[in-house]
Amino acid sequence: CKKKGHISVILVGATGDLAKKYLWQGLFQLYLNEVSRGHTFSFHGAALTPPEKAEGILFDSLKTLSCPADVEPDRCALVKDQFLKLTRYRQLKTAENYTALHQDILSSLAEEDLHEAGRLFYLSVPPFAYADIARNINASCRPPPGAWLRVVLEKPFGHDYKSAKQLASDMQTFFQEEEIYRVDHYLGKQAVEQILPFRRRNQKHLEPIWNRQHIDRVEIVMKETVDAKGRTSFYEEYGVIRDVIQNHLTEILTLVAMEVPKNITNSDYVLRAKMELLNSLHPVEGSRAVIGQYQNYVQQVREEMEKPPHFFTNTQTFASALIYIDNMRWEGVPFLLVSGKDLDERTSYVRVVFKDNAFCLQKDSARDTVKNPCKPRQVIFHIGHGELGFPALLVSRNLFKPSIVPSQWQEISELPDVVLFGQPLSDYYVYRPNQEREAYSILISNIYRGKKESFITTQNLLASWKFWTPILQELERVSPRIYPGGSETGQLLDFVIEHGELRFLTDERLEMMDIQQN
Ligand code: BG6
Repeated sequence: CKKKGHISVILVGATGDLAKKYLWQGLFQLYLNEVSRGHTFSFHGAALTPPEKAEGILFDSLKTLSCPADVEPDRCALVKDQFLKLTRYRQLKTAENYTALHQDILSSLAEEDLHEAGRLFYLSVPPFAYADIARNINASCRPPPGAWLRVVLEKPFGHDYKSAKQLASDMQTFFQEEEIYRVDHYLGKQAVEQILPFRRRNQKHLEPIWNRQHIDRVEIVMKETVDAKGRTSFYEEYGVIRDVIQNHLTEILTLVAMEVPKNITNSDYVLRAKMELLNSLHPVEGSRAVIGQYQNYVQQVREEMEKPPHFFTNTQTFASALIYIDNMRWEGVPFLLVSGKDLDERTSYVRVVFKDNAFCLQKDSARDTVKNPCKPRQVIFHIGHGELGFPALLVSRNLFKPSIVPSQWQEISELPDVVLFGQPLSDYYVYRPNQEREAYSILISNIYRGKKESFITTQNLLASWKFWTPILQELERVSPRIYPGGSETGQLLDFVIEHGELRFLTDERLEMMDIQQN
């Protein structure tokens, strides 16, 4: 153990919801995987919460830690016990508290005469707290020379280009770029993680067809049934584009559309290719976006934010944008990004739809394409929920049989009786991960390994905001389409792409049904 050194992990915001729901479990999973591989660990929870209160909250979070099914119960119990012994808490309010935290870390090392190899700070706190925490970490909690420091930040990373730039520059005052890890939890979803490896492994089949000659459109969709209840003050400030489209869906778009670098495990190569793509996005015009607001939203805001009865807001809870890419590969191919709250189903996926008139690659179906036209051909990265209920990769059987990483994904032979995008599952090759893993557990492991390509660099962040800020400003002046929440909403929000623009399919119907605010 002494050879590899010690890793000190500090979770700031240790008593918060995200910590309780995902982060403690992710840290435990890291410990479980790595404890026998050479590093030693200590875990430090920290928050504003006074210790007497924090204890109970932490106890609640830690008692539910669980192991994957393939870990023997005895080993699981033993490792859990060790993890709890290695975990302590420190209230962080003042500069002195940070010095004391630093001492806590050093004393964990001294107990066993360990040398520190790295220090990981996970900041699960609102962005307004970043600058102060960053200043204190830099002043009092840097690890000794030779050990790495990684500081993890959670979104939102700004509100627009200007504020993101300010926030980024605040961070750069205290940390080097290689020390900053900005999390986008969608980059830890298994089907999203699979996009580049799938493209790389199947390059022989995909390279000739992954382009404007063969692809009709790409749909990147994240629909939710939950509404903004309990979070309306956040939503009032951000809205759906800032909440999930500028980040999650745009990141996915880059993975689908960027050039695949020759080495997809080299962060520099991947991040460079990603930047090139972000810089090639064609500015979105107002006519290429549709926005909506669920019917009950204003009332929820009035209640939760104690607004007067005549209060009115244009905040978007639904948005869709048509994005084009200015390069040879993608010119003219619409990338349709869709997300909304209070819709008819919870699902997220990427669907790459091939053109009808392109030849069928599989010989059988190509024999007579006039009498026997190709069935629709698509590649689907099913991220979660939806009809399937699990992450999956689907490729139409008349496209090609893909190659996957067998240690991570497997083909399913017993297919559930589900129709996906108008086709039974038997029309697809269907793969799913051997083991389902939480996005946060994957990302925490990637932070520990220094896999920078799974995180948002400052350059990447600013490029994305530069792209979204003008259309956000333009849309602020547009009234969102009001849609009834719940089951029927999905259909009511259907829209069409006409002459390269987006239009609600049911304009007239909706106009008749439009519910007047006030
Ligand atoms: C978060 C958004 O980033 O993602 C939430 O802030 C959204 O509004 C959530 O509900 C969805 O994540 P998941 O993993 O449940 O699909």
